[in-house]
Amino acid sequence: MTVQLRAGRNSDLAGVGDLHFRSRADAYRDILRPSTLEFGGDGRLGEWWTERWKWEQPTHRLTVATNGDELIGFTYLGPSPDDVTELYAIHVDPAHIGTGVGRLLMADALPHLAPRAVLWVLPGNVRARRFYERAGWHPDGETRAEKMGDENVDHIRYSWPTTP
Ligand SMILES: CC(C)(COP(=O)(O)OP(=O)(O)OC[C@H]1O[C@@H](n2cnc3c(N)ncnc32)[C@H](O)[C@@H]1OP(=O)(O)O)[C@@H](O)C(=O)NCCC(=O)NCCS
Repeated sequence: MTVQLRAGRNSDLAGVGDLHFRSRADAYRDILRPSTLEFGGDGRLGEWWTERWKWEQPTHRLTVATNGDELIGFTYLGPSPDDVTELYAIHVDPAHIGTGVGRLLMADALPHLAPRAVLWVLPGNVRARRFYERAGWHPDGETRAEKMGDENVDHIRYSWPTTP
């Protein structure tokens, strides 16, 4: 496999939505209700990303990881209401998890997250939390509940960098 990273384009957004949908369904299958995970199927998440990108393109950064013509991961980051940069999304295709793609995406994102950044993660997303902690992030004590479908879902905030 030859992984390349590049800036996301309009033509990637349907694929980004599809990957996001499949990644969420896989990562959250034991954490969220099946009905919650149904949201965004049938191309709707791709439409959601297309709409979001229309407005946020000037201020946000979409990066995709490809293997030939195949989209296998992406990151999305930009300014946050917390007045720092936020890593809004990092997803790797479930078929390629654990092969170093996430690490490449994170290494690419970190310079754009300086000097300080946050992200939100589900407490039960143990694999992602371990990945973040290896990359120098730490839980900073902030929490929030967010409505996903009909479900109220708790999130915890991670900050970067971890200062000694
Ligand atoms: C979290 C996520 C982005 C990490 O990406 P990833 O591609 O699995 O990450 P990597 O492969 O780089 O690293 C994962 C593990 O593989 C190891 N690894 C890194 N490079 C590797 C390589 N070249 N070959 C084999 N293994 C490697 C890492 O050491 C790491 O080990 P660990 O699990 O013991 O910490 C990915 O798992 C994912 O998309 N999860 C689902 C979506 C999600 O939860 N996103 C976050 C929402 S908040």
